[in-house]
Amino acid sequence: MHILITGGTGFIGSTLCPQLLIDGHRLTLLSRDPAKVLRAYGSRVKVIRTLTEFPRDEPLDAVINLAGAGIADRPWTVSRKQQLHASRITLTEELVNVLRRREQRPRVMISGSATGWYGDQGDSVLEETSTLRARDSNAHEEYIHTLCQDWETAARAVESMGVRLCILRTGVVLGQSGGMLKRLLPVFGLGLGGRLGSGQQWLSWIALGDFVNIVRALLVDESQSGIFNATAPKPVTNAEFTAVVAHALNRPALLPIPGALLRLAMGEMSVLLLGSQRVLPSRMLEAGFRFRSRTLEDCLRNELH
Ligand SMILES: NC(=O)c1ccc[n+]([C@@H]2O[C@H](COP(=O)([O-])OP(=O)(O)OC[C@H]3O[C@@H](n4cnc5c(N)ncnc54)[C@H](OP(=O)(O)O)[C@@H]3O)[C@@H](O)[C@H]2O)c1
Repeated sequence: MHILITGGTGFIGSTLCPQLLIDGHRLTLLSRDPAKVLRAYGSRVKVIRTLTEFPRDEPLDAVINLAGAGIADRPWTVSRKQQLHASRITLTEELVNVLRRREQRPRVMISGSATGWYGDQGDSVLEETSTLRARDSNAHEEYIHTLCQDWETAARAVESMGVRLCILRTGVVLGQSGGMLKRLLPVFGLGLGGRLGSGQQWLSWIALGDFVNIVRALLVDESQSGIFNATAPKPVTNAEFTAVVAHALNRPALLPIPGALLRLAMGEMSVLLLGSQRVLPSRMLEAGFRFRSRTLEDCLRNELH
């Protein structure tokens, strides 16, 4: 397949793209930094800086749309929120417009979203059919929902063009080379880990290797479309997460951080650490997908070298 990938140069893309090349696919990557792509892949991939550079007459079989400025990288100022929005929603709208102008359309688009779509839902078990909890809406918690909802809506426009669309509501991706684990491991390694707030909030995670395999499975399984929770079958509470990571590193994790302190220090962004989403990958399990890392212990064994 010839696959156009946005967001293929980051933490997830750096594992996904080499695997897709091994699978025999031809890749075109959208990147703001073509030199970085060339250093990483040489002539094995084509790189474009803007979507309009993609040749209209070049056959295209699939699109993987993961681009987005880091949610947890910087404080959510007004201008940062604009970047978070533009790098996902505006870019997805541009992608849809480029596809609309083509005579030949890709067969499938796999597009990003996150479990943050569900908002903070305490202990409720969340499947793809679950809705946002109707409640005393807290604007802080709604921000990520709105971002994901707009991202999904922008992608949905390809369905009317006959493109099979799979949207991945992705949990926290765990791998050694980036994301949450890369930030946490040094802290836990120093014995400074600890539960956050009550520790009772649910964390829905997925091993990087399983995320890559979900993308590979959905690329070729023409019977699948719609929303998929890209999370492991066994979400954990923050207290369990803390205990399992500390145990894997053979370090104590005795320094809990009070929720009030996190809210004070992080403001609106504290929802990323204190919000609770107990998400199950029901549709991938129904589709017969086999997770290599079903439990957090498996994941740490498989992903940490
Ligand atoms: N990692 C997780 O735990 C997790 C969980 C849920 C959802 N996701 C989503 O999955 C996607 C990939 O995650 P990741 O962890 O691999 O992210 P990452 O390492 O931060 O990589 C982000 C990717 O998006 C592109 N990008 C960043 N800022 C951009 C901007 N302002 N405009 C256009 N493109 C931009 C980058 O491409 P260039 O720099 O080459 O242009 C890069 O390829 C993101 O959309 C993220 O929100 C990730």
